[in-house]
Order: sequence, then structure tokens, then C-alpha cells
Amino acid sequence: MALLSSLTLILLSLIFLHSASAATLDNFIQCVTQNSDLSVPISSAFITPNTSSFTPLLQSSAQNLRYLVPSAPKPEVIFTPLHDSHVQASVLCSKNLGIHLRVRSGGHDYEGLSYVSEIERPFIVIDLRRLRAIDVDIENNSAWVQAGATIGEVYYRVAEKSRVHGFPAGLCTSLGVGGHITGGAYGSLMRKYGLGVDNAVDAKIVDVNGKILDREAMGEDLFWAIRGGGGASFGVILWWKIKLVPVPETVTVFSVAKTLEQDATKVLCKWQQVVDKLDEDLFIRVIIQPTSEGKNTTKRTVLTVYQALFLGDSTRLIQVMEKSFPELGLTKKDCLEMSWIQSVLYIASFPSGTPPEVLLKGKSTFKNYFKAKSDYVKEPIPETALEGLWKRLLEEDSPLTIWTPYGGMMSRIPESETPFPHRNGTVFMIQWVSLWLDGEQEAAKHMDWIRKLYNYMAPYVSKSPREAYVNYRDLDLGTNKRNQSSNFVEASAWGNRYFKDNFNRLVSVKNKVDPDNFFRHEQSIPVIPSSQLC
Ligand SMILES: Cc1cc2nc3c(=O)[nH]c(=O)nc-3n(C[C@H](O)[C@H](O)[C@H](O)COP(=O)(O)OP(=O)(O)OC[C@H]3O[C@@H](n4cnc5c(N)ncnc54)[C@H](O)[C@@H]3O)c2cc1C
Ligand SMILES: *[C@@H]1O[C@H](CO)[C@@H](O)[C@H](O)[C@H]1NC(C)=O
Ligand SMILES: *[C@@H]1O[C@H](CO)[C@@H](O)[C@H](O)[C@H]1NC(C)=O
Ligand SMILES: *[C@@H]1O[C@H](CO)[C@@H](O)[C@H](O)[C@H]1NC(C)=O
Ligand SMILES: *[C@@H]1O[C@H](CO)[C@@H](O)[C@H](O)[C@H]1NC(C)=O
Ligand SMILES: *[C@@H]1O[C@H](CO)[C@@H](O)[C@H](O)[C@H]1NC(C)=O
Repeated sequence: MALLSSLTLILLSLIFLHSASAATLDNFIQCVTQNSDLSVPISSAFITPNTSSFTPLLQSSAQNLRYLVPSAPKPEVIFTPLHDSHVQASVLCSKNLGIHLRVRSGGHDYEGLSYVSEIERPFIVIDLRRLRAIDVDIENNSAWVQAGATIGEVYYRVAEKSRVHGFPAGLCTSLGVGGHITGGAYGSLMRKYGLGVDNAVDAKIVDVNGKILDREAMGEDLFWAIRGGGGASFGVILWWKIKLVPVPETVTVFSVAKTLEQDATKVLCKWQQVVDKLDEDLFIRVIIQPTSEGKNTTKRTVLTVYQALFLGDSTRLIQVMEKSFPELGLTKKDCLEMSWIQSVLYIASFPSGTPPEVLLKGKSTFKNYFKAKSDYVKEPIPETALEGLWKRLLEEDSPLTIWTPYGGMMSRIPESETPFPHRNGTVFMIQWVSLWLDGEQEAAKHMDWIRKLYNYMAPYVSKSPREAYVNYRDLDLGTNKRNQSSNFVEASAWGNRYFKDNFNRLVSVKNKVDPDNFFRHEQSIPVIPSSQLC
């Protein structure tokens, strides 16, 4: 009898819990509908798990398959606003109903933070995919860009109006403007013009009260914080106003490969010595991965590919290379001259001849199970350390490391100008990646490999703090707990790595604009509980 009634109790409470969550969801839908501008029909904007479009939509822009496995927590609803007012309503309603909210623009977050919450359930996703207007004003060298657009669409719309305008942001064209720019946004124009955030001149965001604020209304502190403080800590970015930069009508690109047998180690040593001091029109990154040696597919070597963009023609490029980096052996026939928009496609690895219209499809060329980490290098890594790195790369199934040059404009922007602090003194950035195709089973092995590699590299990279790029989100560096009052101290661990001394200012802005920590995730900027304020 006692057993039966406790079973009944459990069943009843399960039913109650279930209907409570369904009721909350229905309340959310009703609340958003009532609070939105009804001139734009909204009923098709709510996609619930009981419909066949839910899973394809959830998966659509997600890049890291690790966060799409069946055991990954799923949202109660994906809301796809069609109008700025819908975003305002969804912030207000989720706040008033106490439902945890995630916001997604391009879905490229390395740790799936825009569509998976590991710390809080239930949660909903606001997916900005339908808010992707781009308004280019060539006369004024600027554009207003809506957060759901991809960076490739931005490049396309700029190039459509002018062959001599560009924008300095990411190399991968499917990145979402909303999440990408707010974390920094580097790319092949960075040595000449800095980052996406260095060229953002205004924005519109929805704050925690559901209000739309532009730069003037939000004030310089908050406008500072969203230019590099990382996604989803301060509000929902609706629009960025970006400043366009000049590019020549003809640019030159090349890719030159060296294996270990072709003196890759020596060439890379030289690259490390010159790369931050090269002519600012020249950006040469190195993509490094194992490959099979010659025709024998079981014999592996390390392949280093030097991929470059030069803002000028090949004649001048050859002169620059002969003077600064002759060890690479660049010849005129390695060089391809083209327009800037074609160079965007080239660097994003689209096959040669792909028309630029592919950029309007938001096509992603990278969807994998992966774990990644980042490092900043201040002094060249010695040859003996490189030998150890090659050994480790050769032991892993599918590793990849990309080395990105700094210097030029990056060194001239003060560390406190934006929250992004990795400026003068940085020679290059490293991204470490391990990819795999076998789902959940092999994950532990590859995570273990990359963590060991990260430990091995510690002596050769930045220290105190060991710096990291916030747009290469890495939850190994620490996470917020649901109990907010213990967060600040723990958050300093990763906060100082991503932002150095700017972390404290980010925390103080957060306290001012979102004291109840409505915009939160595993690595959002924490609030300081009043007990810790002196
Ligand atoms: C294949 C690949 C290539 C990459 N290449 C580059 C590169 O060349 N240069 C570079 O700098 N970075 C690069 N990145 C990293 C990229 O900049 C970050 O992953 C960035 O956060 C992606 O933005 P998103 O909108 O696509 O992602 P999302 O996953 O949608 O968002 C990322 C974060 O921002 C938040 N967010 C999203 N939209 C908004 C919004 N509107 N307002 C407020 N917060 C928001 C999300 O909640 C999440 O926390 C690359 C990533 C991948 C996967
Ligand atoms: C799906 O679930 C939502 C939210 O509970 C509900 O409003 C809707 O009627 C359901 N649709 C179908 C087709 O069952
Ligand atoms: C150009 O942009 C500036 C700065 O945003 C603005 O003040 C000016 O009015 C704009 N001019 C035109 C012609 O739109
Ligand atoms: C290929 O390389 C492997 C590993 O170095 C070696 O054992 C094998 O003999 C080579 N095969 C041929 C056909 O050369
Ligand atoms: C960058 O740092 C170096 C070394 O500390 C210094 O000599 C140089 O003046 C700095 N450059 C800028 C632009 O601040
Ligand atoms: C939250 O963390 C603080 C500091 O560690 C602790 O004192 C407090 O008891 C915790 N609260 C809850 C509800 O766990």
C-alpha cells in the first residue's frame, strides 16, 4: 500500500512536471506572440520538438557534431524571429517566465554554447537565421549588417558594390556575424586593418529589459564590452555597423607546401622569426597536419602549407618575399592574381572557379566531431620543441594546427582599446584541433590527446596568463556553475586568459547592465555578488 501510493506520487509528480514544462512553453509562445509587432506573422517562427523540422533546424548551422549526439541536451523550442521586435519579446518573455535562453547566429561556437546548455534546463534557443539583412553604403564606407547574416554574405554584398572595398573578419565564410564579431573576428586582412571589432563603429542590441539600444543609447562602456567580450553576456546583438576598408583591385594568393623531407622544420623556424615583421600587405598563415609520404600511404610525414594573401600584384609580392622570406622559395608560378572576393573563396577552400554566389548559401565546409584549443606565441618555438610536436601529431588520427601571424596593425592597437587583449608582443596565434568521425565512442581518446599536447606546449607559449582566444571557446579552461555566487573567483581563471586585464572591466560592465545575470552560459562574464564588493 505504502509502495503503491509512493509510486502514484512519483507518477503524479512526473505528469505534473511534464505538463508544467509544456505549460511554460505554451506560455512562452503566447507571451512572445502577444508582445510582438503583429504586422509580421509569427506563428511559423516557433519550432517545437514534436515537428519534423526541429532536428534539421537544430543541426543546420551547428558545426561541432560533439554537441549534436543524442545525449546532448536539447532545447524545448527553437524560436526564429522575423523582426527585431520578436527578439525583444523573446528576451522579455523568457525573463518573466524564468526560462533559460540561448542565442544563435551562425552556430559555429566550438563548445556548442549557442544551442546546448549543460548547466541549466529547460532552455530555449533564439536562432537569428531569418534576420540577415545587409545594407551597404559604399559612399560612406560602411554597412549595417543584421546578426543572422554570415560573414560570407557580408563580403559578397560589399564586393557586389565595389571591387576596392573589403572588410577584415573571419576566413571561414559561414560564420555568423552575431557571434563572430563580438568575440574579435580575425582574418587575412588583420595585419593591415586589425580585427572585425576594430572596425565596428555602431551596433544595436536588445538589453535585459527588452530595449533596443544603439551605440549612443548604450554608452561607451557597453559598446566597448561587446567589441571582443565574447557572445551572449551583455545582450542580444541585432545589428553591427561596420567600417569598410580599401583593398586593391588585384590581390595575390598562394599556397606552398613543405614536408619534413623538404626541410619543413627549418622553413618554419624562419617563418617564426619574420612573420610578425613582414610587409603589412602580406599575411602568411601555416596549416600543419600529417599526410602520407609519397605513394606509400602507410608512411606518414608532416605537411606544412603556407597559405597567403598579398594586397598587391605578384611582381611586388616576389620582391617582398625575396627580401624577407627567401627560404620559402616562392616563384611567380605559385602566385595567383585575382579580385579580393575571389581571394575570400580561395582562402575558404572553395574549389577554383566556384562563383562568389556560393557565399549567399551560407555553405559550411567544416562539420566534424572536434576539440580545439588556442595559444599565443611571443618568442619563436625552438627546433627541438618542433621535433617533439611532429612526433605527437604523427601519433594522432586526424590532428590539425593552424598558425596565424600577428604584427602590423595588431601591434599598434592598445590592449585596452577593446576587450580583445592579444596585441603588441604576439608573434602568432596557434589553433590546435583534433577531428574525428566516430561519434561518442572515440571522443575520450582524442580529448586526452589534445590535452596532453597542450601540456607539452606550455613552456613554449605565452605564460601568466597562458592566453587564449575567446572565439575558440574551450571549456577545459573552466566553467560557470549554476550557483552564481561562487563564479567570480573561478571565472578569473579563464577570464584572464581570454581578456587579460580587460576582464575586470568586463565584469564591472556586466554588473551594471545585467546585475541579475540573465544572459548567462558556461563561460559568460560573471556578476560579482554584492558580498564580494568592498
Ligand atoms: C570552421 C570554423 C572556422 C572559424 N574561423 C574563424 C576565423 O577565421 N576567424 C575568427 O575570428 N574566428 C573563427 N572561428 C570562430 C568563430 O569566430 C566563433 O566560433 C564565433 O563565435 C562564431 O559565431 P557564430 O555566430 O557563427 O556562432 P554561434 O554559435 O551562433 O555563437 C557563438 C556565441 O555567441 C553567442 N551569440 C550568437 N549570436 C549572438 C548575438 N546575436 N548576440 C549576442 N550573442 C550571440 C552565442 O550564444 C554563443 O555564445 C571559426 C569557427 C569555426 C567553427
Ligand atoms: C507541439 O507542442 C506544442 C507545445 O507544447 C503545442 O502547442 C503544439 O500543439 C504541438 N504540436 C503538435 C503537432 O503536436
Ligand atoms: C556617414 O557616416 C557618418 C558616421 O556614421 C554619419 O555621421 C554620416 O551622416 C554618414 N553620411 C551619409 C552620407 O550617410
Ligand atoms: C611503407 O612504409 C612503411 C612504414 O614506414 C614500411 O613499413 C613499408 O615497408 C613501406 N611500404 C613500401 C611498399 O615501401
Ligand atoms: C611593441 O613592443 C615593443 C617591445 O616591447 C616596443 O619596442 C614597441 O615600441 C611596441 N610597439 C608599439 C606600437 O607599441
Ligand atoms: C554557493 O556557493 C557559495 C560559495 O562557494 C556557498 O557559500 C553557498 O552555500 C552556495 N549556495 C548553494 C545554494 O549551493
